[in-house]
Amino acid sequence: MMQRANVKMIKEWIQHIDTFKIEGAGTTRLPLSKEEMECRSYIMKEMEKFGLQVNVDAIGNIMGILPGSNDELPAVWTGSHIDTVKEAGMFDGVAGVVAGLEAVRLIKEAGLTLKRNLCVNIYTSEESTRFSMGCIGSRAMAGHLMKEELGQIKDMNGISLKELLEENGFNLNEYDKVRKERRQVHAAVELHIEQSPNLEKHKKSVGIVDAICAPSNLILTLHGIQSHAGGTSMTDRSDAFMAAAEIALALEEVSKQGMSAYTTGTVGYVSVLPNAVNVIPGKVIMSIDVRDCEQVSKTYVVTEFMKRAKEICAKRKIKLKIEKKCDDIPFLCDPQIISAIVNSCKFIQDEEEVEFYMHLMSGAYHDSLFLGEFAPVGMIFVPSRDGISHSPLEWTDYEDIAKGIDVLTHTLIQLANE
Ligand code: GLV
Ligand code: MN
Ligand code: MN
Repeated sequence: MMQRANVKMIKEWIQHIDTFKIEGAGTTRLPLSKEEMECRSYIMKEMEKFGLQVNVDAIGNIMGILPGSNDELPAVWTGSHIDTVKEAGMFDGVAGVVAGLEAVRLIKEAGLTLKRNLCVNIYTSEESTRFSMGCIGSRAMAGHLMKEELGQIKDMNGISLKELLEENGFNLNEYDKVRKERRQVHAAVELHIEQSPNLEKHKKSVGIVDAICAPSNLILTLHGIQSHAGGTSMTDRSDAFMAAAEIALALEEVSKQGMSAYTTGTVGYVSVLPNAVNVIPGKVIMSIDVRDCEQVSKTYVVTEFMKRAKEICAKRKIKLKIEKKCDDIPFLCDPQIISAIVNSCKFIQDEEEVEFYMHLMSGAYHDSLFLGEFAPVGMIFVPSRDGISHSPLEWTDYEDIAKGIDVLTHTLIQLANE
């Protein structure tokens, strides 16, 4: 007899994982930082406690394997990420990792042996905060990150991903084993918080994701002329910040012209140099994040935006460098995995006689976007209070996470016994 997910257990895990962070507002646990490495160790120990065989690949992806009766069959995957943005909440990514642990605990407690291996995975650096590009671990699994590129991917302090991986003891000689192929994975199902307000608005506790929006990330570097704030007339200056401000407004305008309801444009990072009251800024570095669930619409916005940015800089006598960090493709979840999740919802709904699920889209991106390149993929969402995420205000009720885990567990059992 399968038990329901244990709210107390889930809460304890999430709260304990939240102790691995730097001092300050919310949760900051950047990928491959000391805090994140300590958090990895804790979760790997938890995995071992529940009988999972733990493997770590060259880019730091962790896989906790619950062996099935026939380990020659392609495996079923679940899991998410534990790195965070700056000043995040406790749930983004972590909910999906804890969901995997709890699903394994429930399966073991019920005395079930599944046919296929079930893997609880933690993917490296899902957030783009540190490296201006997200889904690093899953991107590498999908074959979109070559070993030679690791030295070129740098954080804002110039530290490369390669240095960080080596420093933390990951064996880059094994890099060719990171890449996964279609025949290795039967299905992958990720539980995640919604990060939008739809579930809450519709009073549902579980969302079945039909499609995942994808980002294009750019870094713009603007060079003007640093000079005296009082001594340089308004007609005689090349102010890098004023150009950046005009570019930011152009992004807003162009994003509003996107052809889908999911087009967004964000300037999330700005560095103004030398950043002093009485100095005209000589240099600005800014990040651009454009999202969409339709690639045509995203391409239009990015192209139009770059044209506008170049025009603004030319008019203001600013030198502009545009670095494209990624241009990822929006993704439709697999219909068969969606059906398996619907079946699980209906099974639980029949017992409870309450309609608790709905279909929706994901405005945020996830590792599932890249897993979808080599595996049939589905996602289960649980509600975010007021739709807020990437913020210390992020909140999801533990009871809702438990409901999502019940759906996940049923789905994993179905898929792993196919
Ligand atoms: C990942 O959290 C994203 O930025 O969508
Ligand atoms: Mn996130
Ligand atoms: Mn996430």
